[in-house]
Amino acid sequence: MFRLVNRATVIASVVSFLGHCPVTAADQSSSTDPIVVDGKTFALNGDHVSYRFHVDNSTGDLLSDHFGGSVTGPIPTEITGAVNGWVGRPGRIRREFPDQGRGDFRIPAIRIRQTEGYTVSDLQYRSHETKRGKPTLPGLPSTFGDEDDVSTLVIHLYDDYSDVAAALSYSIFPKQDAIVRSASIKNKGKSNITVESLASLSVDFPYEDLDMISLRGDWAREAHRERRKVEYGIQSFGSLTGYASHLHNPFVSIVNPETTESSGEAWGFSLIYSGSFSVEVEKGSQGFTRTMLGLNPSQLSWNLGPGENLTSPECVAVYSNNGIGGMSRSLHRLYRNHLIKSKFATADRPALLNSWEGLGSTFNESTIYELARESADLGIKMFVLDDGWFGDKYPRTSDTAGLGDWVPNPRRFPEGLAHAVNSITDLKAANTSTNLRFGIWFEPEMVNPNSSLYHEHPDWALHAGSYPRTQTRNQLVLNVALPEVQEFIIEAVSNILNSADITYVKWDNNRGIHEMPSPSTDHQYMLGLYRVFDNLTTTFPDVLWEGCASGGGRFDPGVLQYFPQIWASDDTDAIERITIQLGTSLAYPPSAMGAHLSAVPNQQTGRTVPVDFRGHVAMMGGSFGLELDPANTPEADRAALPGLIKLAEKVNPIILKGDMYRLSLPEDSDWPAVLFISEDSSEAVLFYFQLNPRVDQAIPWVRMQGLDPTAMYSVDDNATYSGATLMNLGLQFPFDTEYGSKVVFLEKQ
Ligand code: GLA
Repeated sequence: MFRLVNRATVIASVVSFLGHCPVTAADQSSSTDPIVVDGKTFALNGDHVSYRFHVDNSTGDLLSDHFGGSVTGPIPTEITGAVNGWVGRPGRIRREFPDQGRGDFRIPAIRIRQTEGYTVSDLQYRSHETKRGKPTLPGLPSTFGDEDDVSTLVIHLYDDYSDVAAALSYSIFPKQDAIVRSASIKNKGKSNITVESLASLSVDFPYEDLDMISLRGDWAREAHRERRKVEYGIQSFGSLTGYASHLHNPFVSIVNPETTESSGEAWGFSLIYSGSFSVEVEKGSQGFTRTMLGLNPSQLSWNLGPGENLTSPECVAVYSNNGIGGMSRSLHRLYRNHLIKSKFATADRPALLNSWEGLGSTFNESTIYELARESADLGIKMFVLDDGWFGDKYPRTSDTAGLGDWVPNPRRFPEGLAHAVNSITDLKAANTSTNLRFGIWFEPEMVNPNSSLYHEHPDWALHAGSYPRTQTRNQLVLNVALPEVQEFIIEAVSNILNSADITYVKWDNNRGIHEMPSPSTDHQYMLGLYRVFDNLTTTFPDVLWEGCASGGGRFDPGVLQYFPQIWASDDTDAIERITIQLGTSLAYPPSAMGAHLSAVPNQQTGRTVPVDFRGHVAMMGGSFGLELDPANTPEADRAALPGLIKLAEKVNPIILKGDMYRLSLPEDSDWPAVLFISEDSSEAVLFYFQLNPRVDQAIPWVRMQGLDPTAMYSVDDNATYSGATLMNLGLQFPFDTEYGSKVVFLEKQ
């Protein structure tokens, strides 16, 4: 039941030097309401989480009280001890929106350069408001939900010295134990100011001994999990590429040193943003640990004229007492239900074949028809034509030309694209009456200097004065901050989608940004891109959109708002993919991952892995596909494909909507294992792999998680065991080959 409480009683919250004086007193009876306001104390309550803070009456500052497992009723006031030495009181307390220049020497969440040059701020509490539901953010992707799903508290702050106003928006999704925060700054003065940094969320943990987990990598080795101890000082990572990037993901988890996948406390922070970002974790001299996520200050310098405002992206914070796995499942549920807008968020995805690794950019109408026909014969439901279909004067026959010229290449499609599409969509998937669907690749944010577009609009490419325009993969980046570029992209993509029966788009983005005209272009670009995404996905809601940036270079929650799936990596080697997909799943639902079975030896690693293993890894992603030419596939592998496609279709609903349990990780074990449990808990599917064969060694047991201990489960219709037995004892599966894999179905009786 929903109830917002806003009591008239103001209970003074003073920092006590005397003892455990219960000064923040939200009363017991209302402690499970999503938002409880008691005077100037604030509580956000999820099913298993509490987030509490209050206004310091003596300074007007917002002080943090708790973020973690549920606390109810009055809580003790923090005892700060005497202020000695150089660190002032602001540097010894836990703060909600730390500023710079008044004695807190830790990283600030806000730094504003005033007209006179000062970077001091003093934002004090003025008022607050509570709302059922949740407003959207202007121009930015954001979580959503109706009044029963989410409640919002907005705190208004004001700096009397500079006439700057701030609004901190907190929303609580109780069922997901998720809090979402953003900050907005408004210039109420008469002259220009510059916002130099603005964090979306800043949390001060009162704990000294913590670990942090992040996702790092590079092209084709995304999302490698990195766990390290939080040391004194600042540990930071982020992106300066203009995009979230392969290098670091806009996600961090804070855990206790003893926390594991399945037990202990875990906090997860995920920034809903696709541009340059910053994550900073600082253990200060007093032993508190500050965790802060937001726009990257090096790429901000945002000018605010009188009356103007700047809103930060949203940051999601989840808490779980069920280990790192519990944290991930909260994020997965939140993102599946309250971030991804597409109607395909949890709808079954068609098994597809993408032409890239099979044909590259060398094809014509008849070769792609043949590839589509072969695909349909295997049971594939969607044919995706990747790079190479466009360009007239500068045809895209290699990566040296054509980007920007979004017209079908008339030499490749002499009778037009629609003709080729029609002949493919007339094909039926094997043994069905289902017509093959058609998808197409775009890279709309880019331009090759060898293109008509570049010759017409050289100024549309991002550049910094007369500095050379650095090319990567022979291409430049269009300045998507410009409205005329946004309109060009919307029109170019719309024209193609309106010209033929196209129901899937892979939106690629294959380089980072080098020469920016100014630091603030970074965020302006993102606002422009989100406008384009919003326009196109709203105009074409029946198109299944897939994000891609040289693989997972833009696997972030911002993209997920518009595109329900993202190509996880250009590395399709199944062994590497286990690490990449399980790493990605720390923050993102498996439903969002594009994963394909490709040819061997693998194009990236040269490794040969059995076809079943490749298929089993790929079907752990929400969008299963093939990335090969069946005509050039050895007969034994080819013969296995129809069965693997059917199996992928069978497990797909569980992958899309179910809960994921990472039972063992490839970095810890030669037998990585993942269990997916269906939304209604009636069935589960186990994926179990052997990476390295062991000779003359006991066969390991794999123990399930998340089952009902009292229920009986049939295992592949062969034997029946209780959930307790499956979780506490487990099952054994012998392997007789290198790179063995099993898919096992558990059905609740
Ligand atoms: C990127 C993508 C690939 C493929 C190529 C085409 O690398 O990640 O999947 O689409 O571009 O150029």
